[in-house]
Amino acid sequence: MKVTLLTGASSGIGEAWAERLAADKHNLLLVARSEDKLQQLSTYLSGKYGVSVQYIAIDLTKPNADWQIFEETEKRKLTVDCLINNAGIGTAGDFVAAELASELNMIQLNIVALVSLTHRYLKQMRERNSGTVINVASMAAFMPAPFMAAYAASKAFVKSFTEALSEENRPFNIRIMLLCPGATETRFFERANINEQDKKALLGNFTLQTSGMVVEEAMKGLKSNKTVVVSGFTNKIGAKLGAFIPNSVIMKFIAGNARSTFQKTKA
Ligand SMILES: NC(=O)c1ccc[n+]([C@@H]2O[C@H](COP(=O)([O-])OP(=O)(O)OC[C@H]3O[C@@H](n4cnc5c(N)ncnc54)[C@H](OP(=O)(O)O)[C@@H]3O)[C@@H](O)[C@H]2O)c1
Repeated sequence: MKVTLLTGASSGIGEAWAERLAADKHNLLLVARSEDKLQQLSTYLSGKYGVSVQYIAIDLTKPNADWQIFEETEKRKLTVDCLINNAGIGTAGDFVAAELASELNMIQLNIVALVSLTHRYLKQMRERNSGTVINVASMAAFMPAPFMAAYAASKAFVKSFTEALSEENRPFNIRIMLLCPGATETRFFERANINEQDKKALLGNFTLQTSGMVVEEAMKGLKSNKTVVVSGFTNKIGAKLGAFIPNSVIMKFIAGNARSTFQKTKA
């Protein structure tokens, strides 16, 4: 049976994506850690939309998680014809004050798990000469972000990796797309321990998109064969401007309010 494998499906953008794809009659394989949530969502989506929804509850930062998922899809005889690497977390603050383990855990999820799953399933897609991979980066992929330094760098990796793979795989009838959401109302900030004050320091008075809006733009981008989809009008302008304004200027702007919130400087 053909399925879309969607990571980070238990909340936020991933959950919105699961519903949108189920409504479009895609069979789904949902991946995240929260087993209860995945089970509820699978029952709800399969009941409402009449599609097959299976799940694997797993921590993607654990060694060999990608191998366990791969073995499970082989055992269940599932053909992953679409892979959506959506699971991701953020960290914010002064890098020196951060727990190194949290930063490395983030890199493991945002980069290592994404690369590993892509490698496993892209290989099969190449053998079949068909498939789709969608990787979720962020607006932060377009510019270095002081006080979210490692997060932005992890998303810059995802952007560069995905765009390059998209070109590499063009002759093989495989679509590879990058989705770059801007600030979106999800549990992302809470999980990154970013409180309302920190959020204001990082984002100013920026209006957040909903997960539904982000997913709609991704679906439109997929239909119109785009390689990079930036969701939200203001974000699109930001990404374009980012290409012309020197990073030194952008970084001073981003660091602006954030420094006084995140860093105690010596008098
Ligand atoms: N929200 C934003 O402002 C924003 C902006 C730009 C980009 N993004 C990107 O959008 C993607 C989705 O984030 P979101 O905003 O929807 O955040 P979210 O609501 O916090 O969702 C994150 C998802 O990732 C899963 N996850 C986290 N750690 C995991 C792990 N170790 N193993 C397996 N799954 C794990 C979570 O499920 P469990 O906890 O059940 O494991 C959850 O399903 C991320 O890549 C994020 O970087 C978000």
